[in-house]
Amino acid sequence: MEEELLFRVIIVGDSGVGKSCLLLRFSENTFNEQHTVTIGVEFGTKLVKINNQQVKLQIWDTAGQESFRSITRSFYRRADGVLLVYDVNSKESFEGLSYWLGEIRQHATSDIVIFLVGNQVDLTESENSREVSQDDANAYKNFHNLCGFKETSALSGFNVNETFHEFTNILY
Ligand code: GTP
Ligand code: MG
Repeated sequence: MEEELLFRVIIVGDSGVGKSCLLLRFSENTFNEQHTVTIGVEFGTKLVKINNQQVKLQIWDTAGQESFRSITRSFYRRADGVLLVYDVNSKESFEGLSYWLGEIRQHATSDIVIFLVGNQVDLTESENSREVSQDDANAYKNFHNLCGFKETSALSGFNVNETFHEFTNILY
C-alpha cells in the first residue's frame, strides 16, 4: 500500500488578520463575519491532490492574541511549514511579522518552510484601505528567504485554494 503523505502546517500572525477565516474558506468553503477570537490552537485537516497523489494537510490555526503565545510555541517544532499571515490593510500587522518570524526561527526546526500571505485584499478595492504594497511584501519575502507570497481574500475566496496548493507543492 502506498504510504500516506502528511504535512503539518501552522498558521500564525497577529490577531484579526483572518487566519481562522482562511482555514474556514479552505476547509469548508464558508466565511465568518465575526471575529471569533481563537483560544489556544484549533485544528483542521484537508486532503489535497498533488501529482495524482493524496496529501493530507494537518492545519493548526493559532491564536494571535498575546496571552496565548506560549501555547503556540509548543507547536512549531512539529510543523513542516508555516503560513505567515498579515492584513494588507494594516501596516501594524505587517510590522508584527518580525515578532512571528523571530518565534519561528527560535522554536521551529531550521528547515521549516515559510509562506507569506497578505489577506483581506478584497477591502483594498471596496474601501481603498491598502497599507502594505505588493512590492514591500515581495521585498520582505525575498529578504527573509520565505518560499512564497500571495495576496488572498477569505471573504471572496480569492487565491485561498491557490495558496494552499502552491504551499503543499513546495512541501511535497
Ligand atoms: P485571532 O484568532 O484572534 O488570532 O484572529 P484571526 O486571525 O483568526 O482572525 P479571524 O479569522 O477571526 O478574522 C478576523 C475578522 O476579519 C473577522 O471579522 C473576519 O470576518 C474578518 N476577515 C477575515 N478575513 C477577511 C477577508 O479576507 N476579507 C474581509 N473583508 N474580512 C476578513
Ligand atoms: Mg483565529
